Amino acid sequence: MDDGGAVAEPMDTGRAHPARVYDFLLGGKDNFAADREAAAAGLKVNPNAATAPLQNRAFLRRVVRFLAAEAGIRQFLDIGTGLPTSPNVHEVAQAVDPAARIVYVDNDPIVLTHARALLTSEPEGRTAYVDANLHHVDQILAAPDLRGTLDLDRPVAVLLLAILHFFDDDHDPYAIVERLTAALPSGSYLVVSHITADYEPEQWARFTEIMRRQGITTRLRSQPEVARFFTGLDVVEPGVVPILQWRPEQEAQLSDAQAALYGGVGRKP
Ligand SMILES: C[S@@+](CC[C@H](N)C(=O)[O-])C[C@H]1O[C@@H](n2cnc3c(N)ncnc32)[C@H](O)[C@@H]1O
Repeated sequence: MDDGGAVAEPMDTGRAHPARVYDFLLGGKDNFAADREAAAAGLKVNPNAATAPLQNRAFLRRVVRFLAAEAGIRQFLDIGTGLPTSPNVHEVAQAVDPAARIVYVDNDPIVLTHARALLTSEPEGRTAYVDANLHHVDQILAAPDLRGTLDLDRPVAVLLLAILHFFDDDHDPYAIVERLTAALPSGSYLVVSHITADYEPEQWARFTEIMRRQGITTRLRSQPEVARFFTGLDVVEPGVVPILQWRPEQEAQLSDAQAALYGGVGRKP
């Protein structure tokens, strides 16, 4: 998936793309036949692939509300934001404080075409969209739209939700995350959600193989592997846990196997 430094990827609707497969799984309309075929093939071997995205969005809502309402965070950097799916980060954060500022980042051209129109801020706050690749952290942090929106001398919450499992070990996602958090001041937060095969290894192995054949690399990680992303940070309670167990607002109707993602929040000391 490394693009060797280019920012905008050319649109190729004949090939499945993670943002559009995910959009289809969430019931969205911004996807093409190749995305729907990849999703259908994946669902055949693992029906939980449809449950996990919905639960991941619910995790996003709880986390952003916690960060804005309880941790006092007013700046958010959502990398791998996906096709706009309401409520987006700014809607949740600006419901707490309309002055909250959010920068969205993705490398899918179809996200780009929708984001600027739909990710619109409350007048007191601000949102921006940066077309960039998480492989290039320095480009993201130096982007004029980011610099014009976020003050990197003040705490920022970086959201990496359902994106790091597209980074295999050769791309050293741990170094990428460390670089991001190193650039932010004390009091900043890191949020990660990440698919795991811990509960249903065979189904997810088949799912991973189907995605690989569609050109989408996935590297699913265990709890200790996901927890490693928070090295050097103070992990807030209840820790790096199955997302259904992260500060639930109601009793879970599903099993952790059905949600199949770990999630956590860490604060930079
Ligand atoms: C499964 S979606 C998750 C969307 C959203 N973060 C959420 O949790 O609901 C993954 C997103 O990451 C984006 N993505 C994948 N690899 C990326 C990369 N190297 N740089 C930037 N975005 C990337 C995809 O385009 C897609 O929109």
